[in-house]
Amino acid sequence: MSVFSPEYDLTTLSESRLNTILETKRLGRGLIEVHQSLDSTNARAKFLSRAGAGEGALIVAETQTSGRGRLGRSWHSPPGKNLYFSLILKPVPVDDPPLLTLAAGLAVAEALDRMAGRTPELKWPNDLLFDGLKTAGILTELETGSDGSRWAILGVGLNVNLEVADLPSELAGRAGSLMIATGCSWDRHEVLAALLKEIEEVYFKLASDGRAETLTRYRRLCRTIGQRITITTGGQSLDGLASGVDEHGRLIVIRHSDGRRLSFAGGEVTLRPSPQR
Ligand code: BTN
Repeated sequence: MSVFSPEYDLTTLSESRLNTILETKRLGRGLIEVHQSLDSTNARAKFLSRAGAGEGALIVAETQTSGRGRLGRSWHSPPGKNLYFSLILKPVPVDDPPLLTLAAGLAVAEALDRMAGRTPELKWPNDLLFDGLKTAGILTELETGSDGSRWAILGVGLNVNLEVADLPSELAGRAGSLMIATGCSWDRHEVLAALLKEIEEVYFKLASDGRAETLTRYRRLCRTIGQRITITTGGQSLDGLASGVDEHGRLIVIRHSDGRRLSFAGGEVTLRPSPQR
């Protein structure tokens, strides 16, 4: 794949170009919508899924006016530089929703590694960082139909050609991009096609009993494991050692105060510096 594609740098995302390079079997093969602007691709995918859109439907936006992040945060979504997209995954391939979230983070990390030759770190559950700068985030939302069927909306935000000068002050020094990490600009169509291919691979793998292998691959890239952390969930924080990720995708933490082993399906992790010897 050519990493530097100046002829595409300034183009907007197009469905027809995406169609010519997609290598997936199901993701992006049914409904594709490419919008100049949306409130949130997850919100649009949710609406379409309730109206009957099926597995693999892909919603992409050049910019989002209310991009959503995890834990009720917003996602900075300036136009023309990055990728913001959502997929309908139907049925949900695993019983444990956290596992789907982890698997999606792994897929994005492995796609970037393969494409850019740089391995991002995963911060549990699924933040992707290059050089400590958050470059991608994933928001999985589960839906249940009136007939009890379940599906997932998988939303991915990846900073592709964002430059340091594009960052608002509150994100400076905290957010990065593929361009900042690699020093060159990227064709967003090629990047999106590579992400979809890898997401589909883990999606099929989870559906066909590949969870153990998926978790092994996840743990290899997860930099949270082995770190002293603070985890905050439900308004409560605790300090401990992140000792692993269990078979359900939950973070295992050994609490400092009493050595108790606890597991978390969600929450916000802050890495703590190791004590000086
Ligand atoms: C996070 O907080 O790390 C998750 C960020 C997820 C952002 C993406 S952008 C595309 C999709 N649509 C949204 O509104 N959010 C997700």
